Amino acid sequence: METTVSSDALITNIAVLTSGGDAPGMNAAIRSVVRSAAFYKIKCFGVFRGYQGMIEGSIKPLGPRSVNSIINKGGTILKSARSDEFRTKEGRKKAFANLQKSNIDAIVVIGGDGSFTGGLIFQQEFGIPVIGIPGTIDNDIFGTSHTLGYDTAMNTVVEAVDKIRDTAISHNRLFFVEVMGRDAGHIALNTGIGAGAEEILIPEANMGLDRLLQSLKRSKKSGKLSSIVMVAEGDKIGKNVFELAEYIEDNLPDYEVRVSVLGHMQRGGAPTCFDRVLASRMGLRAVEELRKGTSGYMIGIGNGKMTLTPLDKAIKGESKIDNELVRVSEIMRL
Ligand code: F6P
Repeated sequence: METTVSSDALITNIAVLTSGGDAPGMNAAIRSVVRSAAFYKIKCFGVFRGYQGMIEGSIKPLGPRSVNSIINKGGTILKSARSDEFRTKEGRKKAFANLQKSNIDAIVVIGGDGSFTGGLIFQQEFGIPVIGIPGTIDNDIFGTSHTLGYDTAMNTVVEAVDKIRDTAISHNRLFFVEVMGRDAGHIALNTGIGAGAEEILIPEANMGLDRLLQSLKRSKKSGKLSSIVMVAEGDKIGKNVFELAEYIEDNLPDYEVRVSVLGHMQRGGAPTCFDRVLASRMGLRAVEELRKGTSGYMIGIGNGKMTLTPLDKAIKGESKIDNELVRVSEIMRL
């Protein structure tokens, strides 16, 4: 059983969990699942520490009052963990046995593609319906224009880079700013445009060291005294951000170069209004789909409307970089 839709499913007990890297908006999604379940008179359980907590039986009932005042909080009240044990059949059996103790008959997984893969295998093995809500700052999930946390992370990055720009200008410096995105350049590309970066290096395109150097030389010649280069952590040149900075400093001696790695601060903080609303919509839709008997799908957003994508497609599909944005970034650097 991969994806089924029937009209007469009777769901009585839903479990919700967060898994993989946390993202702002996860709490708002938990709140939405809990309150939507209560609206439909379905019992809701929170699984703590993702699939590992499911194996360990860390499962507690959640009611509408358990999720008071979390819509504005970063992180996840359910905590998150990576579980090697859940990759084994034995581990998954233990997890299922724990769900059975609370008569849980459906699961909402909030996370990224790794979390969805676990959910899909679990559904296939035990026939328990699973619905996914995409939660990751990287926005690297096929089937949704926005994952939870992406908008907040972009705003966090732009705010940080604005501050870096102040000091870059004061000292006539070139800054390399590394942002998250192991496999995807969405954060780097959008924040690069939003923060006015000179160059944007992303995993989806290999700019090459030489072109980077030539371009920075050109911009220096054109009168720019300071610059920002936005680097996604998974960028394709194959050098880490410190090596890149060293190479440029060696070959462009008129520039003083500095590096700033924004790191995990991008995953924290209060979610933006966009992420809170998106989380609220996705949580409600997840519960409503489970009531309808839908299973093995991810809730997404496209053109402002909620969408459904089979989990296996969400996992395998590629969330492509928008070439129009690449073009905008190239012209704006003039
Ligand atoms: O949440 C996704 C992500 O932020 C990636 O961009 C990054 O490479 C990774 O998580 C870091 O994960 P961890 O917190 O396990 O170091």
